[in-house]
Amino acid sequence: MENPSSDRPRDSLTFPDSKSQHLSPYIPLSTGLSNHPPSSAKPFVTLTFATSLDSNLSIAPGVQTALSGPESKAMTHFLRSKHDAILVGVGTAIADNPSLNCRIEGVGGYGGEGLEGQPIPVIVDPKGRWEFTEETKCMKLAKQGKGKGPLLVTSNGSTSKKLQLLSSLSGGLIDIDSTKDSKERADWGQILSALALKGVRSIMIEGGGSVINELLSPKYFHLIDSVIITVAPTWLGKGGVQVCPDVRTEAGVRVPVGRLKDVKWVPLGEDVVLCGRPKI
Ligand SMILES: NC(=O)c1ccc[n+]([C@@H]2O[C@H](COP(=O)([O-])OP(=O)(O)OC[C@H]3O[C@@H](n4cnc5c(N)ncnc54)[C@H](OP(=O)(O)O)[C@@H]3O)[C@@H](O)[C@H]2O)c1
Repeated sequence: MENPSSDRPRDSLTFPDSKSQHLSPYIPLSTGLSNHPPSSAKPFVTLTFATSLDSNLSIAPGVQTALSGPESKAMTHFLRSKHDAILVGVGTAIADNPSLNCRIEGVGGYGGEGLEGQPIPVIVDPKGRWEFTEETKCMKLAKQGKGKGPLLVTSNGSTSKKLQLLSSLSGGLIDIDSTKDSKERADWGQILSALALKGVRSIMIEGGGSVINELLSPKYFHLIDSVIITVAPTWLGKGGVQVCPDVRTEAGVRVPVGRLKDVKWVPLGEDVVLCGRPKI
């Protein structure tokens, strides 16, 4: 919840232990970038987003839509504090100009030391479509010491101006030039391995529609360790950005695309949070 007390950072948030204890089985055990060679080929992956009752992430492509209530918003920031990195597709970076930092009270920039507890923002932008400047929200926050500099996952390098800005904020590039599949989409296994090589041990993948639908497909479902979805009590209507993965067939017959196991539903204000693990 937004923090009213005057001796705390003005825009910090708190998330009560009584609620966070329900989430602990679904979040990674520890955070902190590893200086050692990665022990695992990929980070722990939490897929998390907010959806309407008709499975929409936003009311129309490219339009940011407020869905979660204040309690779920605080939960998202709590989850960010428990992961080394957070990832979005370039569609989200362009549409939302997201902060991609963590505002939980006690993390770096919000009452804590340095950048302790701040995740690395990761933006998947293979074609270099994201036109960021010093004024872009996550860059501004990194400059103010309230977030880390972003890592850009790209396949065509970047302009020297963009590269300079990223480097000045201790961010950088991950080049995925040689990792395209036949449809020219980057392979998620390789994106995640490249992040593991950078020392990222846990990552929260937040959207948008194209990224989530791809990860829910049979090809990538096994890469997900945890799913935490906020369901808001609203319908957005047709034409929105919908979570609805491609169909799956076995022997020419349609079968469900995926299902969760170890499911828990946690009421949070007017929303409900669904936690689970992919049933492989
Ligand atoms: N409710 C929520 O929790 C939530 C969270 C996040 C976002 N959103 C909403 O979602 C919407 C954006 O969703 P979106 O589907 O338009 O965009 P998106 O998923 O954020 O980004 C899609 C783009 O990312 C790149 N990309 C993703 N996966 C890739 C892969 N495997 N290989 C290569 N490139 C890849 C592609 O860029 P190129 O086309 O350039 O190749 C693709 O077009 C916005 O309206 C935003 O507000 C909602």
